[in-house]
Amino acid sequence: MKKPIRSIAVASAILLVASNGVAQDKQPTPEERAYKFRTSLFQTFAWKLGQMAQAKGKNDEAAFTQNAKDLAYLSSMIEEGFTIENSLPEGTKAKPEIWEDFAKFQGKITNMADITNGFAKEGAMSDFDPREFGSKACGSCHRDFKIKDDK
Ligand code: HEC
Repeated sequence: MKKPIRSIAVASAILLVASNGVAQDKQPTPEERAYKFRTSLFQTFAWKLGQMAQAKGKNDEAAFTQNAKDLAYLSSMIEEGFTIENSLPEGTKAKPEIWEDFAKFQGKITNMADITNGFAKEGAMSDFDPREFGSKACGSCHRDFKIKDDK
């Protein structure tokens, strides 16, 4: 019976974070919450990728491996951000195609996990190129499922 209590605690923590500092007259919808969750997750990805590049720059293999492991683990949470079908609130860059071919989307998650786990192995740091990694692990999904930034 521990689980429901934990879920409530987690849900309240999310509510606190979501409403932090903003005067809101209405609660965010489940779709908006999912959007916030996945957006923060993806921003964490960008941070971790930066940490991997920095660790390689310093020739710090231990830090590199740890960050690669973290990123691989975080990739297991992507799907959680897309469980509500067509959760496309204002501001989202997610494409409706995600739910039209969810198996393909899941394939892109597996692809990222495989590539990232490969870099969590001993001796893999020397093969790491941040741009190439970004294109293969991240861009491969973005090209099909994320609306391009207007820059
Ligand atoms: C399986 C698909 C998939 C993979 C893999 C993926 N992304 Fe994304 N990413 C998305 C989608 C979809 C969005 C748009 C989410 C939204 O706006 O609702 C997104 C959004 C983003 C954003 C914008 C967040 C914001 O502030 O709006 C960043 C940054 C990002 N991804 C970085 C990365 C990085 C770095 C990687 C690789 C380490 C990565 N993503 C891997 C699908 C993916």
